[in-house]
Amino acid sequence: MSIRNVLVTGGAGYIGSHLVDALVARDYAVTVLDNLEPQVHRSGTWPSYANPKATYVRGDVRDRAVFEPLVIANQAVVHFAAAVSVGQSMYQVDRYVDVNTRGTALLLDILVNTKHAVEKVIVASSIGVYGEGAYACAVHGPVAPIIRPEQQLAERDWEQRCPHCHQHVTSVPTPEDKALYRDNIYSMTKYHQEEMVLLIGKTYSIPAVAPRFFNVYGPRQSLSNPYAGVAAIWLSRLMNGKAPVVFEDGGQLRDFVSIHDVVDCLVLMLERSGADYLPVNVGSGETVTILDIARMLGRLLGSSIAPEITQTGRKFDIRHNTADITRARETLGFAPKVTLEQGFTELIEWARTSPDGAVDFFDRALDELRAKGLLVQHAPR
Ligand SMILES: NC(=O)c1ccc[n+]([C@@H]2O[C@H](COP(=O)([O-])OP(=O)(O)OC[C@H]3O[C@@H](n4cnc5c(N)ncnc54)[C@H](O)[C@@H]3O)[C@@H](O)[C@H]2O)c1
Ligand SMILES: [Zn+2]
Repeated sequence: MSIRNVLVTGGAGYIGSHLVDALVARDYAVTVLDNLEPQVHRSGTWPSYANPKATYVRGDVRDRAVFEPLVIANQAVVHFAAAVSVGQSMYQVDRYVDVNTRGTALLLDILVNTKHAVEKVIVASSIGVYGEGAYACAVHGPVAPIIRPEQQLAERDWEQRCPHCHQHVTSVPTPEDKALYRDNIYSMTKYHQEEMVLLIGKTYSIPAVAPRFFNVYGPRQSLSNPYAGVAAIWLSRLMNGKAPVVFEDGGQLRDFVSIHDVVDCLVLMLERSGADYLPVNVGSGETVTILDIARMLGRLLGSSIAPEITQTGRKFDIRHNTADITRARETLGFAPKVTLEQGFTELIEWARTSPDGAVDFFDRALDELRAKGLLVQHAPR
């Protein structure tokens, strides 16, 4: 039987809402479960872009009374509801583990202990499960260094070093089978979610896929949430006449992927079986420095404000991580289409007319990191 109805948890959020629209357009019956987390939905009401053809249920994924009947009533579950911030997870440990890990545990408990018709589970994983990306040493070939020691960061020696010979190493695209390494609580919870869903999926023959999102950007990303989404945070700064703050020297390599390509990939995961029981990188396959992104945003916005390059960093940050998307291409036929220039032009057009506006709370988030001792300390020069 082919899937006709889908439950999307976190479907009022940024990625989930775009998927809801795509599924409705393809004639799926879509139900959203979302608690309208205040940090994301400042108005406390369903967002203006809520889809009139979807059914919206306000509730928490930790509440069995609301979650269980929705799981039982659907043939697929896309589990996106989560607390989403690396930095914040380092001082709201209980909340992150509770929403992300326990919420997913409850979903699996329902799948294992009730009579249901679920034929596919998709759980949002993240680039965070890798910790550092993949690297190559000129002498030792492929290497997987762990997070940089604080002492190295204190000396502003930003580039990764080989775990064997200690020489600087070069970033290469990260395949799914790179050794995983978590260096913050948020990423640990994403890892747990992914592992738990794939394990229960395999054990009970419920096809499950764990998309590992790289840096997703596009319309509807919160412009006023200083904890998540670096492109949106910088855009919000620029729109408020302030410089985007770029940590370290700005040379960090990332993969920025348009929300539209992400949604295409998610639909393929739902409709095809090629990636069942696997984690799958979801990126553009293009590599860019974060400083290039900060500058591109300023240019497209017509702003003369230059990025502020801090030459300092956060203790838990990785240096480079870019996506090898071979698996998504080969198992699903995924082919990203949106260029950075197109995607960021669209993001800016949307931001200029966004009904919720862009309120910049970044300084507050930075103060919290500073107060918790999460910024690198440097010896006076
Ligand atoms: N945006 C990215 O670049 C990115 C990267 C890696 C992974 N992810 C993952 O993708 C998923 C979606 O991310 P997003 O960027 O759309 O985030 P988002 O914050 O916009 O959406 C998350 C939604 O979940 C809801 N939610 C939070 N806690 C809940 C709870 N306890 N019960 C019910 N609903 C709850 C929120 O109200 C929100 O609408 C998340 O699981 C996130 O970890 C996102
Ligand atoms: Zn080496």
